[in-house]
Amino acid sequence: MAAVCLAIETSCDETAAAVVRYPAEVLSSVVSSQYVHAQYGGVVPELAARAHMELLVPIVRQALADAGVPAAGVDLVCVTHTPGLLGALLTGLPFAKALAFGLNKPFVGVHHIEGHLFAVRLEHPDASPPFLAAVLSGGHTELLLVRDWCSYEELGSTLDDALGEAFDKSAKLLGLPYPGGAALEQLARSGRPTIPFPVSAPTRESVPNVSSAHSPFPIPHYPTSLDFSFSGLKTAVLYYLRDHPDADRADVAASFQTAAVASVLNRLNQAIDRTGFSTVAVSGGVAANGFLRERLADLAVRRSLRLLIPRPGYCTDNAAMIGAAGLERFRRFGPSPFGLPATARTPLH
Ligand code: KG4
Ligand code: ZN
Repeated sequence: MAAVCLAIETSCDETAAAVVRYPAEVLSSVVSSQYVHAQYGGVVPELAARAHMELLVPIVRQALADAGVPAAGVDLVCVTHTPGLLGALLTGLPFAKALAFGLNKPFVGVHHIEGHLFAVRLEHPDASPPFLAAVLSGGHTELLLVRDWCSYEELGSTLDDALGEAFDKSAKLLGLPYPGGAALEQLARSGRPTIPFPVSAPTRESVPNVSSAHSPFPIPHYPTSLDFSFSGLKTAVLYYLRDHPDADRADVAASFQTAAVASVLNRLNQAIDRTGFSTVAVSGGVAANGFLRERLADLAVRRSLRLLIPRPGYCTDNAAMIGAAGLERFRRFGPSPFGLPATARTPLH
């Protein structure tokens, strides 16, 4: 059984490598955030790929050195192969394959969202499914039922913007640099949540009562009523700032954050009611948000939940979580084929 893996993450704008021992002991974790994108207000895929190419070798060397593990001491190479920016994935994935091939070791491709889920295991090695999980990142907002490690059922996801995307877009409207989530949280600390932004998430009940038999147009179909929607909130911020150019930006930030977090908590409450689960995991970049963490802690006390939430450094993109996921995948399903492609989008389940 593979005990120690080298893991690599290059799906977006973090170049990361880690050495992890099964099941989730982090021997080293190196993350380099690319600052080149800030001047463009968003990630420029071509620049991200080029930066990964420059950073991969030094970051991997650093991870091995920090762990005190020589390349030959690695049993397995794990790497994110989906979802993400194709050009960015196409740096780390072939690099990991070549490294594994050269070392004559197996390799495992990991789904980035599954990686975010396994960040929970890095923090809580004793976490054992089944439990509810919310993955709140810049590209995804997923509410999952984790039946077992590597076995998931989607309860809801966002119909439009991801939660982190809503933070980033609202931060941009507030004149904050990209990525704006953490900066918005910082600004919100000195504001008051006085503006009643919409706390919304469409439900089955909110879909107009028309059947497709009476409409020539496709009727939106919400497979569950635990989906999220954040584009209306972002638009509310846009209109508020347009109509109140002298608004206190800290108050706008605090109001946005309050509404966004309330939407998440509402959905979690519904999912807990529906499933009866009392263990809830929350991860992904937005789970680094201190206000969300406080509200979740309150909820956990109020509803006697076990809250599984990784430290902020394991919430945002890192390779240690990819390693933990890859090690479990390898144990259950063996290695990935070397022909495994990089794909920009793939459902988790
Ligand atoms: O998981 P992640 O690092 O990358 C993706 O897989 O997308 O998440 C990045 C997202 C960005 O939208 C970023 O603004 C947001 O997480 N984020 C935060 C905070 N830290 C990162 N959002 C709110 N508050 C934070 N403290
Ligand atoms: Zn991520």
